[in-house]
Amino acid sequence: MEVVIVPDAAAGGELIAEAMAQLLRRKPDALLGVATGSTPLPVYQALAAKVRAGAVDTSRARIAQLDEYVGLPAEHPESYRSVLHREVLQPLGITLDAFLGPDGTAQDIQAACEAYDRALAEAGGVDLQLLGIGTDGHIGFNEPCSSLTSRTRIKTLTEQTRIDNARFFDGDIEQVPHHVVTQGIGTILEARHLVLLATGEGKADAVAATVEGPLAALCPASALQLHRHATVVVDEAAATKLK
Ligand code: F6R
Repeated sequence: MEVVIVPDAAAGGELIAEAMAQLLRRKPDALLGVATGSTPLPVYQALAAKVRAGAVDTSRARIAQLDEYVGLPAEHPESYRSVLHREVLQPLGITLDAFLGPDGTAQDIQAACEAYDRALAEAGGVDLQLLGIGTDGHIGFNEPCSSLTSRTRIKTLTEQTRIDNARFFDGDIEQVPHHVVTQGIGTILEARHLVLLATGEGKADAVAATVEGPLAALCPASALQLHRHATVVVDEAAATKLK
């Protein structure tokens, strides 16, 4: 695992956007796995700036979603499909036919999750998976104690994650769904390159456990220790608990 400490979130965003741009120059139809939440926004903004400047061509790029709320209609503004459409697809000029995501509204959620794992494999696998990290060490929505070999499946959000995400629902935790579908840790580990971005002092404990703690289901992000090409990009605030 490679750890890169950058001065701030904007520098982390620029570094990762450049890695994505280099990948797309090498492989124009690369499949980029993307996360939602606040942390990756500087990455998407920096990549969109490169597209506008003509420094990278995203016309053949493909995007894969990491996780989704269960029960929110796809057109709800906070469904992750809507968020990714707004924050990633539109700014990068990528259309929905180049987008893969799990169906959080399916009648048979388990079948939809299995279909999503198959779709990822049939698409050739994720080339670069961008990850954020929860204050409790979750990646995707694999909360503590998730199996390190798990596949895409339904999960129950912890109270802490629902509190953390209430800011996207007018601060009202009652509106935050209880369930999500998420790529499993085993699914995530199949991506060819994992890039985790963590910014702000609230992530410092989770970063220390990921990088320096034991490999343990209690800190799902520690599974990155198993991957042969994992890069952890942290700003100075999130790096304060590293030895
Ligand atoms: C969401 C996801 C989550 C977030 C994590 C951190 O798609 O993958 O693991 O990355 O909850 O969220 P932020 O970045 O909002 O602190």
